[in-house]
Amino acid sequence: MSKKPLIAPSILSADFAALGEETRAIVAAGADWVHVDVMDGHFVPNITIGPAVVKSLRKHTDSIFDVHLMIAPADPYLAAFADAGADIITIHAEAGVHLDRSIQTIKALGKKAGVSLCPSTPEDVLRYVIDDLDLILIMTVNPGFGGQSFLHSQLPKISRVRQMIGNRNILLELDGGVTPDNAAQCVAAGADVLVAGSAAFKGGPSMYAANIAALRGAVA
Ligand code: DX5
Ligand code: ZN
Repeated sequence: MSKKPLIAPSILSADFAALGEETRAIVAAGADWVHVDVMDGHFVPNITIGPAVVKSLRKHTDSIFDVHLMIAPADPYLAAFADAGADIITIHAEAGVHLDRSIQTIKALGKKAGVSLCPSTPEDVLRYVIDDLDLILIMTVNPGFGGQSFLHSQLPKISRVRQMIGNRNILLELDGGVTPDNAAQCVAAGADVLVAGSAAFKGGPSMYAANIAALRGAVA
């Protein structure tokens, strides 16, 4: 029997004109976490939201804010996202040269520290920081947009990262192109948390609970 994964809908696929209501609705629909995609138009070819929006959304729910920083550099903004109410702050290994210092900064801010790897980045970059991590986020699409197709090439990497984690208390999260059709493969490869943008938000608020249930049902 495979483990039950946590479901972390990404508000990148929500209605940006109603992010407060959307956040409340997706949490009410059964989301375990709220995945917040921050993009700067530099590290990735898209721009989304910043700390001010996270701060405004914080009032709408007590749910865990799983903040995915697709920004470079990330260090100058870590305190702002921590102050805004992020619970988990995940930075990209590719976003700067001093990954260990960035992780130490996140932990000194009292937040859970995550590192994300783009599809072309080998898992070995985690070797000398893994003992300080709370979360590892494996991208199963090239970061920047929702609604992309799942990259099956990442499945062996996910299994190797699962091995690297061993008995450490680290959550393994997958991000990009996750649907009920591939969720079981993701969990079988070792995922603890599934990010779902388009699969969670498709069809509008009346469908959110059914969408989340479909993801859970796919790995039941
Ligand atoms: C992409 C983001 C993902 C994305 C997931 O850069 O990091 O979180 O929003 O959306 P879907 O599930 O539609 O691929
Ligand atoms: Zn993301």
